[in-house]
Amino acid sequence: MFTSVGKTKATALEIKSPSEDITLRFSIYRGQAYYEIIIKNRIVVHRSKLGFKIAGENILGNNVGLLKSSQRTHHETIEMLWGEDRLIKNHYNELTVHLVENEKHPRKFNLIFRIFDDGVAFRYELFPYDNIKRITITEELTEFNFNPASSVWYIPAYQPDRYEYDYKKTELGHLKGSVHTPFTIKAPSGYYFAIHEAALYDYGSMTLKLNDNYILKSDITPMSDHTIAHIELPFSTPWRLIMVASSATELTKNRLIYVLNDSPSQDFSWVKTLKFIGIWWSMYVGEWTWAPGEKHGATTKHAKEYIDAAVRLGISGLLIEGWNDGWEGDWLENGAKTNFTTPMPDFDLPTVARYANQNHIELVGHHETVGFIDNYEKQLEAAYNYYAANGIHYIKTGYAGSKMTINGRREYHHSQLGVNHYQKTIELAAKKHICLNIHEPIKGTGIERTWPNLLAREGARGQEYEGGALSPSHACFLPYTRLLSGGMDYTSGIFDIENPAKRIATTLARQLAYFVTIYSGMQMAADRPIFYEEKFKEAFKFIHDVPTSFEKNLPLAGEIGEYYVVARKDRDSHDWYIGGVTSETSRDITLELNFLDQDSYLGEFYTDAHDSHYRTNPLAINIYHKTVAKGDKLKIHLAPGGGFAIRLIPKS
Ligand code: NOJ
Ligand code: CA
Repeated sequence: MFTSVGKTKATALEIKSPSEDITLRFSIYRGQAYYEIIIKNRIVVHRSKLGFKIAGENILGNNVGLLKSSQRTHHETIEMLWGEDRLIKNHYNELTVHLVENEKHPRKFNLIFRIFDDGVAFRYELFPYDNIKRITITEELTEFNFNPASSVWYIPAYQPDRYEYDYKKTELGHLKGSVHTPFTIKAPSGYYFAIHEAALYDYGSMTLKLNDNYILKSDITPMSDHTIAHIELPFSTPWRLIMVASSATELTKNRLIYVLNDSPSQDFSWVKTLKFIGIWWSMYVGEWTWAPGEKHGATTKHAKEYIDAAVRLGISGLLIEGWNDGWEGDWLENGAKTNFTTPMPDFDLPTVARYANQNHIELVGHHETVGFIDNYEKQLEAAYNYYAANGIHYIKTGYAGSKMTINGRREYHHSQLGVNHYQKTIELAAKKHICLNIHEPIKGTGIERTWPNLLAREGARGQEYEGGALSPSHACFLPYTRLLSGGMDYTSGIFDIENPAKRIATTLARQLAYFVTIYSGMQMAADRPIFYEEKFKEAFKFIHDVPTSFEKNLPLAGEIGEYYVVARKDRDSHDWYIGGVTSETSRDITLELNFLDQDSYLGEFYTDAHDSHYRTNPLAINIYHKTVAKGDKLKIHLAPGGGFAIRLIPKS
């Protein structure tokens, strides 16, 4: 498992994954620290540099020697409080290298490598030296030297819409500018990879960029002072993570972000996943407004009506946006003045909260900060107390705007200052027993293992971009890219597909598929109740039935940007749920039911009709029941922009 090759000038250490298929080689060559990754004798990540630039000091990592190294093996199964998989294997071989500079006043640092059967992770540990306990990192030099002929899928970084872009495919060697992670790669070897990070705390988010030698390199989101992190020593960086898979669907099973985060340090048994409706889509289609006035959405009257509807629909939660002071005029400009404890005159929050409580409906409070962190943090404690005092246990927060205002300066959401702000909200919410759904969030790095009250993020283009800016292939990219970083509130379940005010580019059956293909710990049924209660009552039954926490997840078929089919087993019953989506291209698939645990099931099917089409005939849907047996092969038709959803209930 562990070999040391060579001595003195060039040093190399190797460690293998438990299966022995993946080898990590750490080396020092002419003082520079490097790593390489080899799969079955084939180099997949070529020699890649490690190190940092630190303000006022020499580069760390280019004049080092090996002090000592150690190794260990770890094997356990972790249990997640909620999510896509209840049990996750955490099995790795670990190599720690202790490095010291060949200098008069040498600094020391460690690299910890963990080699799993489905990926490689490493982090740096930095220590105080010469009484220096606080340093400023100006650049991280970590490289990911993949074959430039690889295909890659990405969204751009440093753009005004933050993390909300369409996924694009290119050849790695042609990549332009900086891109967010997860960054998905298909190498000429046939292996699939995703570069990402885990446990992002107190540091800028890692984006990636080609350097002048066409080597992919970390490009940490800077702050307005052009640095990337001010840190206290000792400090452990986030984990740099390279997920490995032999197929696109296998990649979607990767859960290393969770095992690389710590278990919760406090009791979170009070956290419950939630399905909710909202006073929201009616604003998008122009029936109501966020702002006060005749068409104001968040009124006491509407809220009570929606609570009644939630009760009738059997949905446990209700989000109410636009309830507080700050929505008048151009709300995007009002962020510095928004008040998070003052309801508008036509919205009596305590009365609404009491009514929700009497009816056993969880209100989802709303804080649109517009990125004005200075204003929000001043009110944070009071704002969370206000909700807590009114028995509200869920908040959707929002950070619209191209940058945040922190300490009077404009900062990236994904900068160290942004990361620390989000963390402050998560920890304060945990104290008050509040769960969060963060819109325009910092990307997911698995911290919800440690902070399970962070139930959802709406980071990535969701259905709010429908009405022109979403193509059917988008939801076929997400599972292989963005969703490798955790769930997403996609605001699914829009049945008012043909509304010209916000035309949806999907079929009706596909709106149901999303509840399976796009996991979220807070899952929104985003349309107005009338569409669920009257117009498409039969289709709504699937939204009612589908769980928000699963026992396990089993991707069945798919290709990046083309289609995705996944089966998920409920956590609280023996039911299975299967969902599939396709791009603009229609597709006929064969579902092989050999994964089922029992012999016979009642299947409830919601599929596209033979003539469904996301443009011309989106509402055509086949809803039928049929008995199926383990091992059956089912033919399913997916229309252009279509999809399907199935519930399987054991017969015995
Ligand atoms: C912009 C968000 O994208 C949208 O979903 C939200 O409803 C509004 N901000 C108001 O917070
Ligand atoms: Ca958004």
